[in-house]
Amino acid sequence: MVRSLRFAPLTLVLVAGATASALAFRPTPVVERAEGSPIHDHMETMNAALKFFAKTGASAENRVKAFEQLEKFQAAVVACKSMTPETAKAVEEAKRAEFVTGYRSMLVDALSNSCRMEKALLEAKYDEANRIAREDMNALKKAGHDKYEGDDH
Ligand code: HEM
Repeated sequence: MVRSLRFAPLTLVLVAGATASALAFRPTPVVERAEGSPIHDHMETMNAALKFFAKTGASAENRVKAFEQLEKFQAAVVACKSMTPETAKAVEEAKRAEFVTGYRSMLVDALSNSCRMEKALLEAKYDEANRIAREDMNALKKAGHDKYEGDDH
């Protein structure tokens, strides 16, 4: 009787500890829904901005809107270039750093293209800004998606 009382507090601590860790445990999903990823959301912003240049077309009349769209594009690229794409999980560990570096490097190219577009806008060269969006950005988008987007899109 005396013995069991002596051990009771320790038993309580152990049971409480086990319960707390069971409640704290949350399994991490291995594959998240693509639509729920931050990269996905930023990419949608980039897409909408480029659509403005490629479809509507920047011009002297809408230059304020064109700058706004370009700034949204740039903020989105800056945000997602330092994130890790879902597809990196499937790359063997020894090659993962190279894979993520390649991803980031291509988005740096996208940022660089957007700066060329900005210079064109500043110099009122609207056709040139629209051309970069239509041709150079589209080529980069295709190359980036072929390598980094994955099959579930
Ligand atoms: C430059 C113009 C680009 C545009 C406008 C663009 C647009 C988009 C869009 C709309 C999506 C969503 C597609 C869907 O759910 O069906 C997407 C996804 C994605 N893009 Fe891009 N993209 C561009 C460039 C790039 C580049 C250069 C890379 C890689 C270096 C890249 C990597 C990805 C990845 C990894 C996803 C999947 C994100 C996720 O769901 O987790 N994109 N992009």
